[in-house]
This record gives sequence, structure tokens and C-alpha cells, in this order.
Amino acid sequence: MKIAIYDNAEQVAEQAANIICRTINSKANTVLGLATGRTPLKTYQQLIKSHKQGSVDFSQVASFNLDEYLGVKPDSHNSYRFFMNENLFRHINIKLENTAVPCSDSDKVNQTCHQYEQQIKQCGGIDLQLLGLGSNGHIGFNEPSSSFASRTRVVALASSTLSDNSDLLTTQEQAIDKAISMGIATILESKEIVIIALGKAKAQAVALAIEGALSASCPASCLQMHGNVTWLLDQEASSLLTQKRYYQLSQQLLA
Ligand code: F6R
Repeated sequence: MKIAIYDNAEQVAEQAANIICRTINSKANTVLGLATGRTPLKTYQQLIKSHKQGSVDFSQVASFNLDEYLGVKPDSHNSYRFFMNENLFRHINIKLENTAVPCSDSDKVNQTCHQYEQQIKQCGGIDLQLLGLGSNGHIGFNEPSSSFASRTRVVALASSTLSDNSDLLTTQEQAIDKAISMGIATILESKEIVIIALGKAKAQAVALAIEGALSASCPASCLQMHGNVTWLLDQEASSLLTQKRYYQLSQQLLA
């Protein structure tokens, strides 16, 4: 794993956006895996800036989002579809029909999950998956105890996730406590993975995922098994790593 530590969230976002732009510039029809939440917001702002400056073209890009709250309509302000449209898609020249967010507002969610996996395969798989990290170590909504062999499915949300995310819900809706999430095996099939973690609240999960044992108790530890993962951390998120000096030395080799 490559572990890169930056002074602040702005530098992390710049680096994440650079990696994404570089990938798209070397393969115009890149298939991106995308995340929602607070973590990728600055990266999306950077991507919008790069697009407006003419340094990246999304016209042939396709994307798959990691997850969506169960039973939430795509036009709800709480939906991840709404989040993606507002925070990225409507500001760049990606074709909306090439962007996929799991559709959880259906009677046939299990079928939807299966189709999502098929759709990813039909596109040739995800070239670059962007991940955030839950304070409990989740990736996507694969909460602690999720199987490393899991595929896209309906999942329950951990209490810590519900409280971490409660202030992001903008309108009252029926109880949101479940979601559709890409599985861990689905995520691990991506050709490249970039995971961002920012702030002190993520420091423990970062340390367990990078330096702890491979364990379903910390789903992000599965990334130790992937051959092309880059961790982008700010100082606070990296504060509990014991081998920080070594990572910083190795980082010089990445430049
Ligand atoms: C979101 C997702 C989650 C978040 C994680 C961190 O699509 O899959 O794993 O990345 O919960 O959330 P924030 O960024 O809000 O701290």
C-alpha cells in the first residue's frame, strides 16, 4: 500500500483529484467508483475546477457509486443520487446516463443489487475506486463483520454510522437505517483504489486498517490484500500510525 500524508485536507484533495484526472487523461472512457459523504467534497470541487480549466474531459467517463440509503427516492435531498448530482455531476460534462447510483427505491432490491454487479462487469470493471473511511473502519457501507467475500447487497447501518451521518440528512424522512452497498469483494475487484481519510475521528480506523491485522472487525483492513491502493491522509488522520516516519520516507519515492 502507498501511504501519503499531507499537511491538510486541501492538499489531500488536490492529490486525489490529480490521480483521478491522470487516470481519465490516459483512458478517456475510465470507469470511476465514487463515494459520498464529507470526505470527497473538496476532491469533487478540485475536479470541477480542473474541468472548468479544460484539463479534464468527463464526456466518455462512466461512474458507479458505492451505496445508497434503502427506500430513499433518487430525488430526495437525502439520497446519494441527489448528493452526486449537486456536488459533482451537474458541474462537469459527464453524461448523467453514464452515472450509476444503486436504485434502492424499488420492490426488487435484491434484483437491483445483482444487476448493479452485472452492470459494473459489462463496463469492464472499475478502473479507479475512490473511498472514504467510516470512523468504525467501514468502506462503502460494509460495516464491521462484513465478509471480505461480500457483493452488492442490502445492509444494516451500524449505530455509529447512523450518528456520524445524522447531521448530513437534510430533510425528515422515514427512518434511514439500511442501505444498498457494493460489497467488499466488489470493491477489491477495482483495478486501483484511492482511499481518503481526514481528521482525528478517523485516526483509530486508519491505524487499524493499515497497521492492524486483516479482520472483518475493520473492513478497510481488506485493502491490505489489494495490489494498487493509495491512502491519502491528513496529519490528524495519520496521528495514530506508529510507522509514520517510514511512510513519509516512502512517500518521497512516490513524488
Ligand atoms: C459514502 C461511503 C462511506 C463514507 C464514510 C465516511 O458513499 O461509502 O463509506 O465514505 O462513511 O463518511 P464521511 O466522509 O462523511 O466521513
